[in-house]
Amino acid sequence: MKDELVLRRCDPDNDMDTIVDLERAIFRPSEQYTLGFINWLCRNCTKYSYIAFMGDKPVGYIISCIEGFSRGHVISVGVLGEYRRRGIGSELMSRSICSMVNDGAGYVILEVRVSNTPAITLYRKLGFEVRDLLRAYYSDGEDGYLMILNNERFREFVNRHCTSITKQPT
Ligand SMILES: CC(C)(COP(=O)(O)OP(=O)(O)OC[C@H]1O[C@@H](n2cnc3c(N)ncnc32)[C@H](O)[C@@H]1OP(=O)(O)O)[C@@H](O)C(=O)NCCC(=O)NCCS
Repeated sequence: MKDELVLRRCDPDNDMDTIVDLERAIFRPSEQYTLGFINWLCRNCTKYSYIAFMGDKPVGYIISCIEGFSRGHVISVGVLGEYRRRGIGSELMSRSICSMVNDGAGYVILEVRVSNTPAITLYRKLGFEVRDLLRAYYSDGEDGYLMILNNERFREFVNRHCTSITKQPT
């Protein structure tokens, strides 16, 4: 039988190793967060953070947080190389953003390397736009883009992806 994609919310007491293993497999050493920061993220951002499984195998993850009252921030998202282009990244983004919307996020931001065409294409497809160029944002000197999902595109995203939320009475 074909394995199905299942997304499960992060459990900070049990999923630390899984996230660290995924992060190490997906990102180059210079792009990885320190263990301490991942630990902090796992503990403080669990509500909007998910692990994607194909059968029993963890194949991707996303970590997001709400900052202040209403700013959703996608901090890290990745899918193992052999599982890409199957919609897993999109599914992780949708689930995490809808969870943040459900808790009051009114727009969403993220940072991405200017060279990261796959990720930028995915984010644009979901409605994100480039808001700013972040010069030498990354430790190796590469520039980043600050991308934002807000206003009409944010509302379109919510209508399209967060159906259970739009059905709620206002
Ligand atoms: C970015 C990433 C998470 C996308 O995950 P994914 O599961 O492959 O994404 P999806 O299958 O949902 O792709 C959705 C759309 O994004 C775009 N896209 C994804 N990968 C792409 C690529 N390599 N080239 C061009 N467009 C791409 C396509 O429009 C795609 O839709 P399509 O397959 O119907 O054409 C994945 O490539 C990844 O883990 N990269 C390494 C880690 C990383 O860079 N993370 C982002 C840091 S900011």
